[in-house]
Amino acid sequence: MPTISGLTDTLIVDKHLEDFNLESENIPTHVAIIMDGNGRWAKKRHLPRIMGHKSGTEAFRVAVKNCSRFGIKYLSVYAFSSENWKRPEDEVKFLMSLFKQLSINEVKNLNKNGARVKVLGDKEGLSEDLRKHMKSLEKQTEHNDVIQVNLLINYGSRREILDAIKTISKTLSKEEINDLTEKDVSNYLYTKDIPDPDLFIRTSGEYRISNFLLWQLSYAEFVFTDIFWPDFNLDELGKILQEYQSRHRRYGGL
Ligand code: IPE
Ligand code: IPE
Ligand code: MG
Repeated sequence: MPTISGLTDTLIVDKHLEDFNLESENIPTHVAIIMDGNGRWAKKRHLPRIMGHKSGTEAFRVAVKNCSRFGIKYLSVYAFSSENWKRPEDEVKFLMSLFKQLSINEVKNLNKNGARVKVLGDKEGLSEDLRKHMKSLEKQTEHNDVIQVNLLINYGSRREILDAIKTISKTLSKEEINDLTEKDVSNYLYTKDIPDPDLFIRTSGEYRISNFLLWQLSYAEFVFTDIFWPDFNLDELGKILQEYQSRHRRYGGL
């Protein structure tokens, strides 16, 4: 059995569930997070916005570990939207360099947590250097199977859907398009082969989706928290999972 820090996965997961009084059979398979509020976190501390992003990376590391320890199988995090290019050049540059650093420095930690990384988004819009590092990050973690971490970089949901429509119209015949199912459409998205999120979390007290997984979130449970992303910790995740377990998912039924 694969181990995390010497203890078996099962024992660690059991302990986390017990600490928060959570039912093991009702843990979301896929959690999707809009990691928001880095800038405001920094501002509150009279620090430059980029320090918020730096601390946000720490929170990401912690979140991967904690999600794996609650037995969550997929974690999707929104790291850079296709609209974030509108930000000042310096901030964008810093974020890109942060992603590169992360792809080099986080490999050890990700492997320790059994986390396999997939980068989702419009990769063509990223520099060749960053693309190379992202690819290497995916390669170096591809053997892990405790949790899959989807890093959404240069991601926009409308663009993802538009690209799917274009591919479908270019590659399928009229008859094939007539027979297309919802499942088929899902297979044209970046998230192909990934189950839809069960739980959506947005930090920082904003109540928006901001072009994040519009198709995939159709039946996710939404939880919003006021805390800024750099402060997102085990306790916060545990409380959100308790909230999730108190919900009754009906999928249109009774
Ligand atoms: C989220 O934090 C990180 C990215 C969008 C890259 P923000 O940078 O949006 O922080 P706020 O919302 O300005 O506080
Ligand atoms: C969404 O946050 C994108 C990421 C967290 C990467 P934003 O801060 O960019 O979203 P808006 O502009 O407040 O909607
Ligand atoms: Mg924001």
